Amino acid sequence: MSLLAIVAAYLMGSLSFAVIVSRAFGVADPRTFGSGNPGATNVLRSGNKKAAAVTLLLDAVKGWLPVVLVKAFGPAYGLGEGTLALVGLAAFIGHLYPVFFRFKGGKGVATAAGVLLGISGWLGALVLAVWIATVLISRYSSLGALLAALAAPLLYILGDGHLWDMHRPVLGAVGAMSLLLIWRHHENINRLIAGQESKVGKKKK
Ligand code: G3P
Repeated sequence: MSLLAIVAAYLMGSLSFAVIVSRAFGVADPRTFGSGNPGATNVLRSGNKKAAAVTLLLDAVKGWLPVVLVKAFGPAYGLGEGTLALVGLAAFIGHLYPVFFRFKGGKGVATAAGVLLGISGWLGALVLAVWIATVLISRYSSLGALLAALAAPLLYILGDGHLWDMHRPVLGAVGAMSLLLIWRHHENINRLIAGQESKVGKKKK
């Protein structure tokens, strides 16, 4: 049962909504312009804000849904914190390496946010606040994602016993997501250092 939940979460994560939504909206494939990343930030560069917002929402939902389903129904099937952690991680990895898109996926920001919101509404909200505040101040989506990724495991540890109870497998999954997310942003990091990263709100051919 545990394996079934993990595989189902991976398959859900493999739905690359940047590509699917862009097709549905008649927008250019995000893999062909801008950063080439199939993510909401790059869909926004197409100029279609609605398509970007729908991408952001659906990429987050595919991380959130498997986690809340395991939380709600898992105990009845003997699924514990270990499965919960692996299911969240599987959805995130599905987004990064989607089986339906030749394993070429995105950087995982929206899906990680969804997973964190599923783990704890407070945790998700605090990490989202870091992301939003950084993007509003700097106008760099990637910088917001990087700072939020650094904040996520720290906030999870800090909130233990106050806002939520910490579970080791979940901390492992949160830490692994952060490391993978930072690694997937290595080109963004180089561009940020070189002062060549594009700011949110600017179209890029
Ligand atoms: O959502 C990913 C974001 O952090 C960076 O996207 O397209 O600028 O590489 P992009």
